[in-house]
Amino acid sequence: MKRTHTCGALRKSNQGQSVTLVGWIDSIRDHGGILFVDLRDREGLTQVLFDPHSSSIPQEKLNQLKDESVIEVTGKVKFRSDGTINHKLETGAIEVAVAVLIIHNISDTIPFPLEDEKADKVNEDLRLAHRYLDLRRPRNLNRLQVRHRTSKCLRDYMDAQGFLEVETPILFKSTPEGAREFLVPSRLNPNQFYALTQSPQQYKQMLMVAGVERYYSMARCFRDEDLRSDRQPEFTQLDLEMSFIDREDIYALLEGMMQKVWKTVKGVELPTPFPRIPFKEAMDRFGSDKPDTRFTMEIEDFTKDFSKSGFKVFASVIKKGGVVKAFNAKGLSDITQGELRNLEDIAKMLGAKGLAFIRVDKEEWKSPILKFFSEEERASLQKRLQIEAGDMIFFAATHWEQACTILGRIRLESANLLQKKQRLKVSKDKFNFLWVVNFPLMTYSQEEDRFEATHHPFTAPVAEDIEKLESDPAKVRGQHYDLVLNGVELGGGSIRVHQPDLQKKVFETVLKIPKDVVESRFGYLLKAFRYGAPPHGGIAIGFDRLCAILSGTTSIRDVIAFPKTQKGQDLMNASPSPATKKQLSDLNISITET
Ligand code: AMO
Ligand code: AMP
Repeated sequence: MKRTHTCGALRKSNQGQSVTLVGWIDSIRDHGGILFVDLRDREGLTQVLFDPHSSSIPQEKLNQLKDESVIEVTGKVKFRSDGTINHKLETGAIEVAVAVLIIHNISDTIPFPLEDEKADKVNEDLRLAHRYLDLRRPRNLNRLQVRHRTSKCLRDYMDAQGFLEVETPILFKSTPEGAREFLVPSRLNPNQFYALTQSPQQYKQMLMVAGVERYYSMARCFRDEDLRSDRQPEFTQLDLEMSFIDREDIYALLEGMMQKVWKTVKGVELPTPFPRIPFKEAMDRFGSDKPDTRFTMEIEDFTKDFSKSGFKVFASVIKKGGVVKAFNAKGLSDITQGELRNLEDIAKMLGAKGLAFIRVDKEEWKSPILKFFSEEERASLQKRLQIEAGDMIFFAATHWEQACTILGRIRLESANLLQKKQRLKVSKDKFNFLWVVNFPLMTYSQEEDRFEATHHPFTAPVAEDIEKLESDPAKVRGQHYDLVLNGVELGGGSIRVHQPDLQKKVFETVLKIPKDVVESRFGYLLKAFRYGAPPHGGIAIGFDRLCAILSGTTSIRDVIAFPKTQKGQDLMNASPSPATKKQLSDLNISITET
């Protein structure tokens, strides 16, 4: 089955040649008995024509041809006459007059059209159930190509920087302090379970103890989380770890990497160094630890201004140690009741009691709470939020982190509304990279009534904060960094603890993990650290998220060949699915029927 050319290759200069093409029938047009077929393969489209007057292909054979069937044709390349040249196609100057037709496979009628504009409107579940058809669309094929090129570019870069690609196990042991895990029963060890790796975190640290010094891998990771457009139960990280380095080395390595990827894949020069924003400042200004800085609408703090406010809601929150924050959704005063209710629902979902607002109509402020505000309070709002006619002001009054988070989310939702009304342009071609730094090492969990690692328990504290580990854990900063791009957390990592006693203290004294659990889960790690552990650190980049941004899409499902749905299902092969009685009994597992 030797083709002489791909369907994207033929030009004027091939005129007169006899060629063989293979591919899928993209479309068929019948012009008075002459069939014009657009033949498609990975590389493009070529028009081929079947003329019953000049070929001996039987009509019955031609009658079988249907869209998406696979055929092989041999014939002569012809110029198209002037009026019929298709300037939209690279092969538009020629066509192939077919003399020999081989039909490899006749397609059933496909369940949805494959043209991008039409397919985009088709229910995603239907497309995912027939993902092999969905992937035939040039746009999706292109996304796989972007993924391939990015992966190759990353591997070349890591190789040039002296990193070894090492594969680590996927069957690992269950560890506390992370996302929920997928458990795998062990047949050879009845009643014992592996966990699928959430990330190769502990293995890569073992590789540092082993003296590998520079490790990376394209690691498959598994997390049994609630899924969203940027989260899949299995996903890929560019995972790396280095010995004898500090945070600056990671920043420089990653900035060089992103520059190379953007240059190679998009032809764009990225300016470096990337800005660095402390966690607290990111929360204060943007209400998020992954701020989208492509637009402003920054959040301001009005706690001082409203500490004696006539508006009891604000005053009492402040009295209890809370804050009052507000931001100006510039130009959103014509928000509809429905849109406003939607924003209130979002705020409430995040724990807000309400979403106070001021609507600024033609110089006149409108709000049910305005009557409680003093002249000074109004003046301060006016000045710091630069209020003009047409604006919409939103408030949150509660404890600091919640107030930030609520307004951070409302800020993003407002930007979406403003984009729809075409009053704000948040460009997909703007790439605002930044580092978020100085996260707290620990975060207090109300539910658990104890501190939890903000990222993971292997993160090293900032050296001068170590003495506060026991006395004031909330004040200890971690040597953690997140790489953020346009409001997406692209990656995160840290310098690690490499001293066994400090690591033990973090587990037992600070995180209050019982001694026996520490021993059974992390005993091997603490032991390894007693045999010459180098100082080390690393980072993991969400490869699917990276490819999504490079492809200009917001859903990582678009850049994964066979993604799972929101419910974690693969609709193409209907998994997960029940196990047989035999499988279960081999694994010594009994299940309760529901
Ligand atoms: P972390 O948990 O922050 O760090 O993960 C690193 C990056 O992986 C991506 N990511 C995901 N992508 C798709 N679907 C998911 N469910 C998902 N979860 C995470 C994100 C994230 O920034 N071992 C540490 C790294 C380290 O400390 O070196 C880790 O896994 O882009
Ligand atoms: P109330 O006096 O409780 O009716 O609240 C008046 C307005 O303030 C309503 O629009 C509420 O949605 C809003 N509101 C109430 N509590 C808060 C809060 N903690 N933060 C922001 N807005 C609030």
